[in-house]
Formats: sequence, C-alpha cells, structure tokens
Amino acid sequence: MDIVSANRKRNFAGRILVASVLTAVFIFMFSLSPDSNSTKAFPRHEPGVTHVLVTGGAGYIGSHAALRLLKDSYRVTIVDNLSRGNMGAVKVLQELFPQPGQLQFIYADLGDAKAVNKIFAENAFDAVMHFAAVAYVGESTLEPLRYYHNITSNTLVILEAMAAHKVKTLIYSSTCATYGEPDKMPITESTPQKPINPYGKAKKMSEDIIIDFSKTTNMAVMILRYFNVIGSDPEGRLGEAPHPELREHGRISGACFDAARGIIPGLKIRGTDYNTADGTCVRDYIDVTDLVDAHVLALANAKPGKVGIYNVGTGKGRSVKEFVEACKKATGVNIKVEYLSRRPGDYAEVYSDPSKIRDELNWTARFTYLQGSLQIAWRWQKTHINGYGSHNN
Ligand SMILES: NC(=O)c1ccc[n+]([C@@H]2O[C@H](COP(=O)([O-])OP(=O)(O)OC[C@H]3O[C@@H](n4cnc5c(N)ncnc54)[C@H](O)[C@@H]3O)[C@@H](O)[C@H]2O)c1
Ligand SMILES: *[C@@H]1O[C@H](CO)[C@@H](O)[C@H](O)[C@H]1NC(C)=O
Ligand SMILES: *[C@@H]1O[C@H](CO)[C@@H](O)[C@H](O)[C@H]1NC(C)=O
Ligand SMILES: *[C@@H]1O[C@H](CO)[C@@H](O)[C@H](O)[C@H]1NC(C)=O
Repeated sequence: MDIVSANRKRNFAGRILVASVLTAVFIFMFSLSPDSNSTKAFPRHEPGVTHVLVTGGAGYIGSHAALRLLKDSYRVTIVDNLSRGNMGAVKVLQELFPQPGQLQFIYADLGDAKAVNKIFAENAFDAVMHFAAVAYVGESTLEPLRYYHNITSNTLVILEAMAAHKVKTLIYSSTCATYGEPDKMPITESTPQKPINPYGKAKKMSEDIIIDFSKTTNMAVMILRYFNVIGSDPEGRLGEAPHPELREHGRISGACFDAARGIIPGLKIRGTDYNTADGTCVRDYIDVTDLVDAHVLALANAKPGKVGIYNVGTGKGRSVKEFVEACKKATGVNIKVEYLSRRPGDYAEVYSDPSKIRDELNWTARFTYLQGSLQIAWRWQKTHINGYGSHNN
C-alpha cells in the first residue's frame, strides 16, 4: 500500500475514533440530563453540598425558603404543579442562580406517586422541605377531601418515596391550626392538639404519620408549626401572590393590601366583642424571613432518629385592630373598615411560646415590627399589581 492510502486510512480511523468519543460523551450527558446539561449535578450526591427538595417551591413560603437555601449555597430542586404557586417566582430564582447544579424546577403533581417516585429515583436528595399543600381554613371546611388528599395523602407519598430512596432528613410545614382552640395561652409544643377544622386535622394526621414512621427508621425529622405568616423578601425579589380566585379565602395581609389598592372596597372585621384588650381577635404574626431562618436552622440541627417539634412564632399577640392600623401606616392608605359580627369558628386569641426553638435551635424572631414587615410586603405588592403576572408562564 502506498503512503497516501495509509495516511487516508489513519485519518479515517482517527475520524471514527473522534466521532465515537463525541457520541459517547453526548450519550453520557443526555443520559444524565434529559432537559439540559445544567442538570448534570442533581443525580449525584456531592460531598459538602446539601441537595434539598423543596416541594411547593413556587408558592409563597416555599419560594422564600428556596431563595434563602440558594443564597447559602444549598443545591435546590423545586417540585410544584403550579396549582397555587407562580412560575414567575421560580423564574426570579432561576435568574438569580443560573449556575449549573444550583437550581432545577420540576413540574409535577405530588398526588402522582409514580411521578414522585421517578423524581426521587433520578435525583440524589439529602433532605426534603415539604411545603406543598392547600392552606386555607375556610376552604377546608367547604372542601375537606381536597385537604385530606393534598395534605395528608400527599405527605404519605413523599414519605414513601423518601423511605424507598433513603433520603435522610425531612423538614415538615405544620401549623398552629393543629392546636385548635387551647384553653391556655401561650401555646407551647406540649399544648394538646385538638384541631377544629379539616385543614388543622389534615396537618395533624400528617404529623402523626411522620412521627409513627420515624420510630421505625433513622430519619431525621423537624416539624415546624407556623403561626400567621406575613411579609416578604426585604430585597423585594419575591412576594406573596395567591391566584385571584383564592382571594375570597384570603388571609388578613392580602386583604389589607387589596383594600389599599382598591381591588376590594374595604376591610371587613368580624367580631369586636371577643375577650381581648380591644375586642378583636389576637394572632401571632411571623415574618417569612424569620420563618425561613428557622427552616435553615432546623435543617442544620436535624438529628438521625429524632423528631424535633417547634412552634415558630414571635410570642407576641397582635389584635386585628392593631394589624389594620399598622397596614394603614405601611401603605399610607386610609383603608375603609367595616365592623361586623363574629365569624363562626374563629377563636379569640392565639399566640406562641417560642422558648423551645430559642433554647434548642438558637432562633428568635427579628422582624417583629409589624408595620415594618407590612411596609416591605407592600413595596412588592405596589410594584406587582398583577402578582407575578400570568401564573404559569
Ligand atoms: N401561609 C401561612 O400563614 C401558613 C401558616 C401555617 C402553615 N403554612 C404551611 O406552609 C406551607 C406553604 O404555605 P404557603 O402559604 O406558601 O402556600 P402556597 O399556596 O403559596 O404554596 C403552596 C405551593 O404548593 C403547591 N402545591 C399544592 N399542591 C400541590 C401538588 N399536589 N403537587 C405539587 N405542588 C402542589 C402549590 O402550587 C403552591 O405553589 C403549607 O404547607 C401551609 O400549610 C402556611
Ligand atoms: C395539581 O395537582 C392536583 C392534584 O393534587 C390536580 O388535581 C391538578 O389538576 C394539578 N394542577 C395542575 C395545574 O397541574
Ligand atoms: C387536591 O385534591 C383534589 C381531589 O380531592 C383535586 O381535585 C385538586 O385539584 C387537588 N389539588 C389542589 C391544589 O387543590
Ligand atoms: C445564636 O444566634 C446569634 C444570632 O444569630 C449568634 O450571634 C450566636 O452566635 C448564636 N449562638 C450560638 C451558641 O450559636
């Protein structure tokens, strides 16, 4: 054979080699990452990196938690089906944390056990923060099955997937609604739990399932019972934006802002003859920034084989009247207030004893100036008249 043809042969063999190496590389990349190569990091545990699954991460509290985790260099996977959350919140996070291996969003329904199992099979989670739920007391009395399904049954799905895939740590979003109407204030973690509505009952059942299961495994569990959550990111990147159809079930801060923006004519305060200082109901308002701090501390302090249960509140009760005054000052709008008779099922006073979480996790609420928290939230509300815009794009 002459030199030329030998060279050609070598060239040809070289090209085949390059082509097959490239093919192998591409197959390898695509097998790891169905969507883009930026998801390569998620299927593997990495020493020094804690990968947290944030369910409900497109929602109000979950998005704030994801922001905080990302800022603290955690790896985050958000799973949400946008039934109540906003893709806009996820987009804000994606823009802030675009590096490969920082954040991925998976659109899925937690009621779909097969889909959930697939997510756990394809990702190496170190911990789960389970926020996803439906969360309106009034709605829960009208549609109890929606609550037992999307709270209790979905928590079971998550637990089963965690067990099957040996995920070691769970931080669970619970609520003061699991206590019902206690005789004694403030509420401590050992106050008897006697929930009085399907929302509180569904959360209590989830807690029971988690606690029973934890006795049989080495899972590290933290159950956080939040009081009334308010506020938003002090840097104005995220806010609270419930879908418009949920307004009627809404919480007091949303209603105040809607009144200030003229979306609703004014505020209706139900009940002025409660046995409280000014006759209106008293609640414990916890700023979302403090709440998210509590989650990070809970994650850092979770111990295998142990269940930690903590109230997350300020320990201070604020009356509805006080709240409305703070909201008027924060918004600068003289919101019209109408006083009506009591709403059935409301209780006079609810506030926490936050000493356990202070003593054990060194957590205390810092954003306890109601008007300040509302001012921050109002700034976002004012500049996001339509929330995040259309909620699923
Ligand atoms: N907001 C409060 O004052 C408060 C108080 C106590 C406890 N909590 C608890 O905190 C958690 C978060 O509440 P939030 O106020 O952020 O609510 P949210 O409605 O803003 O967020 C919940 C998120 O979960 C998602 N979700 C719901 N069902 C789902 C499903 N089947 N599959 C996938 N995603 C689903 C929704 O799309 C939404 O993004 C809830 O568990 C709630 O019970 C909230
Ligand atoms: C979200 O999940 C629920 C089940 O929990 C399902 O009924 C609903 O259709 C889903 N919503 C979307 C937008 O996928
Ligand atoms: C919750 O469960 C019900 C079924 O009981 C379903 O119709 C609904 O879409 C689910 N999801 C939400 C977010 O309500
Ligand atoms: C407790 O928290 C405070 C404020 O975050 C911090 O300055 C202090 O060092 C913490 N103490 C311990 C023992 O971790």
